[in-house]
Amino acid sequence: MIQRHDCEVERSKVGLCKCGHFFLRMSRRKNFWTESLLFFKRRSRNQVHHCHTKSLLIHASSSPCQWKQFNLFSLMVELAKLATQTIPPFNLVQSKMISKVKPILEESMKSLYCNSVPSCFKVADLGCSSGPNALQVAYDVIDAVHNISRSSSITFQIYLNDQFQNDFNNIFHSLPCFYQRLREEKGEGFGACFVNATPGSFYGRLFPTNSMHFFHSSTSLHWLSQAPKGLINKENIYFTNTSQCTVYQAYLHQFSEDFNLFLKSRAEELVHGGGMVLTFVGRDETSDIITPWGLIGLVLNDMVLESLIEEEKLESVNMPRYGPTANEVKELIDAEGCFTLQKLETLKSSWDEGLKENGNGDLALDANARANFIAKYVRATTEPFLTSRFGEGVIDELFLRFGEKVAKLLEKQKLEYTYLVMFMTKK
Ligand SMILES: C[S@@+](CC[C@H](N)C(=O)[O-])C[C@H]1O[C@@H](n2cnc3c(N)ncnc32)[C@H](O)[C@@H]1O
Repeated sequence: MIQRHDCEVERSKVGLCKCGHFFLRMSRRKNFWTESLLFFKRRSRNQVHHCHTKSLLIHASSSPCQWKQFNLFSLMVELAKLATQTIPPFNLVQSKMISKVKPILEESMKSLYCNSVPSCFKVADLGCSSGPNALQVAYDVIDAVHNISRSSSITFQIYLNDQFQNDFNNIFHSLPCFYQRLREEKGEGFGACFVNATPGSFYGRLFPTNSMHFFHSSTSLHWLSQAPKGLINKENIYFTNTSQCTVYQAYLHQFSEDFNLFLKSRAEELVHGGGMVLTFVGRDETSDIITPWGLIGLVLNDMVLESLIEEEKLESVNMPRYGPTANEVKELIDAEGCFTLQKLETLKSSWDEGLKENGNGDLALDANARANFIAKYVRATTEPFLTSRFGEGVIDELFLRFGEKVAKLLEKQKLEYTYLVMFMTKK
């Protein structure tokens, strides 16, 4: 394992920019990047000058002496160690969900293509991110279609979509291995496969009319195009058990607008009879809504009361995400009218899913260890958002308190995400 992460560090690029900043371009994995950034911030006593996706600039010019003592090599070694010890399996959690959904994907492919498969099969993964999961979904789709028709005359055209700022280059670097894997595992009877990137928001058009056969999206559609506009949501950054009805309505309204636009856009792009398998975070039909974002809201509130955070800031911040119920989704699909919902299932995933695979084997871990893991995972996914709103100064304290709240809850109950998985076909 250390070997693997050592390579990861070797692939990172280090340099000194003309502007006098030390530059480190991190490689490959999102979680590795986030942990590294935190680590640098601690070690360099907040000298991190500026950071953007997968690279960071540290101010070296202001105190060169101190900088020289900052032994780069030992830092890299520390990073490699850190990568093996403490990274929450950011991709692993989602990768487990992709595996759980695979049987539904295979079943959907069978129902769509049991009679004939298009000679050039065009499929897109929407919100693919830049980690290994992007190509795993592509592989699963090819696998499912190939198992239905072993014809070597089928060509696969795979489109990977995410926001413009996504690190598509990271995926491109893995393509030679991906193509080789296909050649080795699928053998002589396998046709051609071409992978393309399609940057842009899936809340709008991405492909030509009537051009696509299949869409897949995993753990992405709960992200809204924006937080509900003009929402006064005192004491929270999401909606919770205690939120006023107007808060819930505002979130549902934003989700409905976004999801409707998503459905309309995909309906234009799909050929007649084409289909989609979508998986995203939803919620149960219960009044007891416990989410990490709700707990973060409670912590922020405590910090407001202790004057660590300004009250006005908390009032104006809302997370741009929404977990709908199965009924809300069903109603929206029916109302939009272009799709027939063939299947809608809920799957559960514990908040600390992936903890055992993260080097903890069969250990019976106590609530604190599990809470610590959850805090790291949630921090990795929300830190950029929270830092930009509340400043980096409060983040360590925020997640320390968040971990404590999670530990207390874990003593009493199971903490699980509810995922909605659906298969629908264009009418
Ligand atoms: C949690 S990641 C899931 C990545 C991958 N599908 C997986 O299962 O591992 C969510 C991804 O959705 C992308 N995303 C969010 N909103 C999007 C939008 N409007 N258009 C395209 N991608 C979006 C994010 O950039 C992010 O990469």
